[in-house]
Amino acid sequence: MLELAERSRLIAPSATLAMAAEAKRLKSEGIAVLDFALGEPDFDTPANIQEAAFRAVKEGKTHYTPPSGIPELKSALAKLYTEHHKLPTKPDQVVVSNGAKQSLHNALMALCGPGDEVIIPAPFWVSYADLVKLAGAEPVIIETPESSGFKLTPSQFRNAVTPRSKLLMINSPSNPTGVVYSRDELAALADAVLETNVGVISDEIYEQLTYGDIQSTCFASLRPALADRTVTISGVSKTYAMTGWRIGWAVAPLAVSKFMGDVQSQETSNPCSVSQWAALEAVTGPQDSVLEMKRQFERRRAYVLGRIEALPGVTCLPPGGAFYAFMNVSSHFGRSLGGRKINNSNDFCQAALARAHVAMVMGSAFGTEGYARLSFATDLAMLEKGFDSLARFLAD
Ligand SMILES: Cc1ncc(COP(=O)(O)O)c(C=O)c1O
Repeated sequence: MLELAERSRLIAPSATLAMAAEAKRLKSEGIAVLDFALGEPDFDTPANIQEAAFRAVKEGKTHYTPPSGIPELKSALAKLYTEHHKLPTKPDQVVVSNGAKQSLHNALMALCGPGDEVIIPAPFWVSYADLVKLAGAEPVIIETPESSGFKLTPSQFRNAVTPRSKLLMINSPSNPTGVVYSRDELAALADAVLETNVGVISDEIYEQLTYGDIQSTCFASLRPALADRTVTISGVSKTYAMTGWRIGWAVAPLAVSKFMGDVQSQETSNPCSVSQWAALEAVTGPQDSVLEMKRQFERRRAYVLGRIEALPGVTCLPPGGAFYAFMNVSSHFGRSLGGRKINNSNDFCQAALARAHVAMVMGSAFGTEGYARLSFATDLAMLEKGFDSLARFLAD
């Protein structure tokens, strides 16, 4: 019998899979599941980006590209970071990958291994801890409670640092909380980081999806010394409704980007050539579709917050960015809902799915108990049905 590698013991099957399987089972029975579990925009990829992809195919741009990406896209991204993010960047510091997820994987493979610790504030995006373990390092989870706005403070960071600390992973705007650190908060964190030898992976995939006056900050641009310490991750998936195209990128110090490109060249070669040409149009072409999608998300966010306020025993820190409401449902723990005793966020989400046919993701999947994440990357009509159903379920 083939025996699995030791590595197979490092990774637990995602807690979200059980929910997804149950939602699928209900759908196969003909039940209309109101699915708010997905982390992807429901919009079509904008037409100008689609056209760029068709053009690329017709022009025969369908062969291998340099492993770290086509020079045109790397140059466009270097210009974007230099001019817009105020982070002086050379094209060779950019590595284009099969989604931001692979960029994160490449960065961790390049920077940490056995014996190293990686500090991750919780709640965190589901894949962080497992990606760290895959790289052979140890995730060190630091709780950031709702009372401190789900934000890591400089003193929490200082207390978490040990001689083995190699990296800090930050994510603003955040999945799952939607929290956006202010420039000053990030600068204070940056100064604490610069007192140490710890490097930073800053996942800025939701950088353009912020609401009202709130703006995201490119962490590496905050202090000149950070450029040598930080890998910045972003991509087109969320901003341009391009989740299936699989294009993300990293901006890293030269030696790191070189090695990340080498890792990628051995693992997957280049990201899809056609998708890279489409991504080039996304970042250099007209941006009106991004503004329109943002407007729609803004409307949905306002609607969702209004409906949450009216739900009994549910509260939510208003998200400053991304498209998630991280709802505090802990006041329902100890109750019975939908004929089921609710002891944790998994019970809550399972009961909501079984009784209200509403799919959400339990807070425990993000390392924090007491919450359910609802994605508002769905249209208003569906949100209305979902909240009507949730309201009936909680009044049960
Ligand atoms: C915080 C965060 N980082 C990275 C990713 C991965 O994005 P991509 O689709 O580019 O791999 C996601 C997707 O859900 C995310 O929420």
